[in-house]
Amino acid sequence: MTNREFDILVVGELNADLILRGDVVPEFGQVEKIIDEATLTIGSSSAIFACGAARLGLRVAFVGKAGDDEFGRFMLRELQQRGIDTSGIVIDPHLPTGLSVILSRSSDRAILTHLGSIAALRFDEIDLSLLSRARHLHLGSYYLLDALRPDVPRLFDEAKARGLTISIDTNYDPTEQWAGGLHEALRSVDVFLPNETELLAITHEDSIEAGLDRLAEIPIVAVKLGARGATARRGSQIVYADSIPVKVMDTTGAGDSFDAGFVYGYLNERSLTDSLRLACACGSLSTRAAGGTAAQATMAEAWAALHV
Ligand SMILES: Nc1ncnc2c1ncn2[C@@H]1O[C@H](COP(=O)(O)OP(=O)(O)O)[C@@H](O)[C@H]1O
Ligand SMILES: [Mg+2]
Repeated sequence: MTNREFDILVVGELNADLILRGDVVPEFGQVEKIIDEATLTIGSSSAIFACGAARLGLRVAFVGKAGDDEFGRFMLRELQQRGIDTSGIVIDPHLPTGLSVILSRSSDRAILTHLGSIAALRFDEIDLSLLSRARHLHLGSYYLLDALRPDVPRLFDEAKARGLTISIDTNYDPTEQWAGGLHEALRSVDVFLPNETELLAITHEDSIEAGLDRLAEIPIVAVKLGARGATARRGSQIVYADSIPVKVMDTTGAGDSFDAGFVYGYLNERSLTDSLRLACACGSLSTRAAGGTAAQATMAEAWAALHV
C-alpha cells in the first residue's frame, strides 16, 4: 500500500476566503470605511486539511468541484503550489466557486458565505480510479456536500474494496438535523474526527464519554476540544492531549490542521497518544496566523513544539 502514488485522497468542498481585517463595523447607506488588511486565502475545511497534510509531507490528491472563474483558479493554483494533485477536481462552468468573506476585528469575526459550487459534487463525477492510487480516503464537510451525501456509503464501499482506510470530519451541520444517513456511512470509517459539539449532536448524548461509547463500533474516534486540546478512543483505550500554548491570531481551520496531524500519525502507525499529541500541535500551531493555511506546521515544527 505504501507504494501507492498518494497517501491521501481528499474528497470535499472548495472555496476561497477573503479576510478583511480592521476595527470597523460595516454600515449600510453607502458608508465607506477603511480597513487595515485584505487577504485572499485558501478556505474550506477539506482544502485546509489537504494543505495541512501536504505540509507534513504526505502525498495528497483532491477531488471536489469549482467554477470556471478566478476564485476557482486561485484555489487550484494554491493547491498545486503545495504539490497537491488537482486532476480529480471537476470544473463546472455553470456554477461560481464558493466564497466566504470574513470581517475580522480584534475580538470577533462575522462571516458571509456564498456556497456556489460547494454542494454540487456528485458521485458519478468522482474519478474512482484515483482511489486505486491512494492509501487513505478522507472525506471533509459531509453536511455541506448535498449532492454527494446520499452516495457517501457507496463511495466508502468503493474505497474499502480497493483496500483504503477512511477518515471523516463531518464539521457542523448548518441545518442542525444531524441526519442524512451519517450512521450508515460511519460503518466503513476507521477514524472519525468530530469536535465536541458535533460528537454530542451526532450521538444525542450529553457527555463526551457517553458519545464515545455510542460510537464504539468505529475503531478510532478523536474529539477536538478547542483550546483544551483533544481526547481520543481506540477500542477501550482513552487518551487525552493538551493544546500547545501559542499566541493565537485566528483559529480558522485549526480543526482541519488537527485532522491532518492525526491522520499523519495514523498512517505512520504511531501510538494513539502520539497521534493525538501531534494533532494538537498541528491544530495549535495553525492558529498563529490569519487564515487556515498560513501557519500550518511542518513535521519539524510540530516535533519541536512537542519537545520543548
Ligand atoms: N485557542 C487555542 N489555543 C491553542 N490551541 C488551539 C486553540 N483552538 C484550537 N486549538 C488546537 O486546535 C485543535 C482543533 O481546534 P478545534 O477548535 O477544537 O477544532 P474545530 O475547528 O474542528 O472545532 C484543538 O484540539 C487544539 O489542539
Ligand atoms: Mg471542524
